[in-house]
Amino acid sequence: MGVVASAPAKIILFGEHFVVYGEPAIVLAIDKRAYAEAEQRNDKRLCLRSVNLNLAGYFENGTFKIEQGDAKEAKSKFEPIKLAVAKVLEKHGENVGLNIQINSTVPVAAGLGSSAAVVAAVTAAVGALLNVKMSKEDVFRTTYESEKIVHGTPSGIDPAISTFGGTLLFQMDTGFKPLEVKADIPLVIGDTGVERSTRAQVEKVRSIKEKYPQIVEPVMLAAREIVLRAIDALKENDLETLGELMNINHALLYGVGVSDESLEWLVNAARKAGALGAKLTGAGGGGCMIALTKNEELERVFEAIQRVGGKPFMARKTDEGVKIERT
Ligand code: PMV
Repeated sequence: MGVVASAPAKIILFGEHFVVYGEPAIVLAIDKRAYAEAEQRNDKRLCLRSVNLNLAGYFENGTFKIEQGDAKEAKSKFEPIKLAVAKVLEKHGENVGLNIQINSTVPVAAGLGSSAAVVAAVTAAVGALLNVKMSKEDVFRTTYESEKIVHGTPSGIDPAISTFGGTLLFQMDTGFKPLEVKADIPLVIGDTGVERSTRAQVEKVRSIKEKYPQIVEPVMLAAREIVLRAIDALKENDLETLGELMNINHALLYGVGVSDESLEWLVNAARKAGALGAKLTGAGGGGCMIALTKNEELERVFEAIQRVGGKPFMARKTDEGVKIERT
């Protein structure tokens, strides 16, 4: 039996897209986690297996061999993991072979940060297995660096929230700040099942912003005001206000073109079923929406999302970032 570590997924509660232009965003770790188990091998192979994706393969002497599933998919999913493991091994000072098994409860490619959660969990598990001292800061850096190599220039939101957990205020020029949150924030998350590209969605907003600067700038200011008010509402456990702010935030995102039919069905169904507020989360154009819901309405909102074709699941904020589950 090896060492097991886990790390949480995330949702963006407020401020996606506008964050790209320097506005603040609020990000929340949710109680859907990725688990990684690491054990040492007698040879130098790095063997990776994803139970939930049905993928397996190994890296040896710089080449990748597939053992289960689609080779291209496996390589793209395993590449950031390999990079993170290499960084831990560098700290360890010796190259050792490893078996790593991943088991994630986070839907993939839905904007919930599943990739960062997996990499953070693997980094912590391998560090603990080899007795390499990895502070949370080290896990964050390692996860961020390997995501950067694979995905270009991400904001760092996903690795930060997977590592530190809780609720973070993020702004491009000032970075991350933990937020005090009294509220429990019961959510129903609805996955449209529609795949989207974050890059294409960000481009869409850029072109609208360039075409209509005088219109989009006040929208950005409104988005900032929403985040500022949400900070107070989170502190005061004011779920009604948070719900209203989510609805307004969704309208702004709709205005800059990043909602789509699949999201609108789910958002409207959730509101009709009694959600306090609902909005898309992340890049939009498919992916996931979130509905803030009183505990007694959770079931109704869940069913309403399901009825219109979404894949719902319930989630709550978690304060637990990356952690060792078993040594
Ligand atoms: O759906 P995600 O997790 O890829 O969200 C992207 C969030 C954006 O604000 C649209 C882009 C970014 O880099 O912050």
